[in-house]
Amino acid sequence: MNRSALQLIVLAAAVVGAAAAATVVKPSTLKVIPQPVLVQMRPGSFHLRPGMSIVVTAGKPEARRVGAYLANAVAAPTGWKWKVSETAKPSGRHDAIALELTQDDGIPGNHPEGYALTITGHGVRIQAATAAGLFYGVQTLLQLLPPEIESSTLEHADWNVPCLRIADYPRFAWRGLMLDVSRHFFPADFVKRYIDRMARAKLNLFHWHLVDDNGWRIEIKALPLLTQVGAWRAPRLGRWGQSEPVKDGEAATDGGFYTQDEIREVVAYAKERFITVLPEIEMPGHSLAALASYPELSCTGGPFHVDPGTSFYAKVDNAFCPGNEKTFEFIDKVFTEVARLFPSEYVHIGGDECYKGFWKTCEKCQRRMAEEHLANEEELQSYLVRRAERILESKGKRLIGWDEILQGGLAPNAAVMSWRGMDGGIAAAKMNHPVVMSPTGFVYLDYYQGDPGLEPTTFGRLPLSTVYKFEPVPEGVDSRYILGGQANLWTESVPNTRHAEYMTWPRAFALAETLWSPKTSRNWEDFMRRTEAQFERLDDAQVNYARSVYDVAITPARDSSGKLTLRMSSEIGGADIYYTIDGTNPDSFMMKYPGAPVTVPEEVYVVKAVAWRNGKPSGRVLSILMRDLIARLPRPRS
Ligand code: ACM
Ligand code: ZN
Repeated sequence: MNRSALQLIVLAAAVVGAAAAATVVKPSTLKVIPQPVLVQMRPGSFHLRPGMSIVVTAGKPEARRVGAYLANAVAAPTGWKWKVSETAKPSGRHDAIALELTQDDGIPGNHPEGYALTITGHGVRIQAATAAGLFYGVQTLLQLLPPEIESSTLEHADWNVPCLRIADYPRFAWRGLMLDVSRHFFPADFVKRYIDRMARAKLNLFHWHLVDDNGWRIEIKALPLLTQVGAWRAPRLGRWGQSEPVKDGEAATDGGFYTQDEIREVVAYAKERFITVLPEIEMPGHSLAALASYPELSCTGGPFHVDPGTSFYAKVDNAFCPGNEKTFEFIDKVFTEVARLFPSEYVHIGGDECYKGFWKTCEKCQRRMAEEHLANEEELQSYLVRRAERILESKGKRLIGWDEILQGGLAPNAAVMSWRGMDGGIAAAKMNHPVVMSPTGFVYLDYYQGDPGLEPTTFGRLPLSTVYKFEPVPEGVDSRYILGGQANLWTESVPNTRHAEYMTWPRAFALAETLWSPKTSRNWEDFMRRTEAQFERLDDAQVNYARSVYDVAITPARDSSGKLTLRMSSEIGGADIYYTIDGTNPDSFMMKYPGAPVTVPEEVYVVKAVAWRNGKPSGRVLSILMRDLIARLPRPRS
């Protein structure tokens, strides 16, 4: 799906040539994310008005639906009720927004999601070969409008858009975002809002992590206990991973699930936004919620409880028994209903982090290994995944799984989602299997995005600037096998919807740009300028987001003489950092961080630091005890 440099040059020449007479304004005035492939500013602007119409290519219901989406998107903040009408040739109408489906959209190679957007003093024209392209043109148009366009209540704003021509298409076909709804359950209405924001950023794949040890979230009519039992756990308020195990007789009151009607609604909602919903049904590990419902599918027989957030990497029996035929009957029943509910080409079967210890002592598992000539438990896992693939294929679906599905041999047609770095993806691509890159080091949105001293408790570390460096195609890999990339929001440390938004934005903007825009157009400073503009839009949309880029992070180290040094950094450009070591609050009259690590005596009790920009504090004051800083030092190897 990647464009060659030659195509880009040809397109650039065509667009520049067509408008040689126009006064070219620097495209850096636009605040669109992801950065479009080609932007050519022209003088003037077009004023949108109440009585305008949206004119779409006649006889194309999919174009009409995009028109209705646009009319609906502007209705609340403007109060306008734009009508959608059809005509054989929508272009050239004055005072209209033309959505034209045409093979002649000027996008090289007729890219399936490409579009051309032209705004003149007379109107707006979006041309695309597909309705998806029209939709992305509409998204760009919405981003050209003032931030108030995101409001759900009536606003007074200058509804102007600049005259320009944009030619645009994505670098990758798979632009994904995963939401874990097992560790914490998020209602369907929130999932729709999440999908709305994905659409704004031209992300097109919503990976729904529907089941795990901590809750089964999808109604399966043939297996009612999955949601009667598996969707509920004992309530806990403590830190995830350290919760008390379930006590005898304790009621399971915390949780929830989606009915099949709700699933269909979300899938249809996503489809209207050109977003594919990829369901994930975990196996063989991470399956405690299923086993709590049907313990006979385990090696040990249970009984089990849905896990309320205890030590989740413990060696517990949370895997299906691949020696038991009932496991495959279960998988068949689940996939039968999943395949009907989700139109996606793929179903994700998980496959990660399966503790196989109980298989070693299970008679059924050992018998299966002997009968199938499987050399070890990895091959037993591969046996299960291959059978899962055959079941899925019998229902018209393809299998995708986390990179552990490579262990013991990859199923014949499987796609691999590489999360433990890129190596699994590289190995799969070298075997000519499709790959989605989703490495922890670049796209794990559950990780801290700023200094842990300022952020709600989680683990790992993934600042915005690191997401912006995500490159899904490693050196030496045939890019045709890299479908694209995806960020994952695991929700162990995400107990509510506001925090899910906080962990997602702005990092998913960086993701969107790395997956849509040409690699050559990446520019961190310009991305931050546009991200700051997007913050205003999120404010109007009442979507939460992290302002961690404005804060200071402190990294301790020891210099060659063993002295403690502190490196202070802020991701936002043009900021100065001020700090204190005497417990007082820092401001711009205090010590200025010189830009290189400073030595701080260890008798200091607390270090405080804040970034200043444009004469004011840009973010929060980081206050951190020296003993906590020392605890951050890498432990000496023993
Ligand atoms: C994963 O993060 N365990 C796929
Ligand atoms: Zn077993």
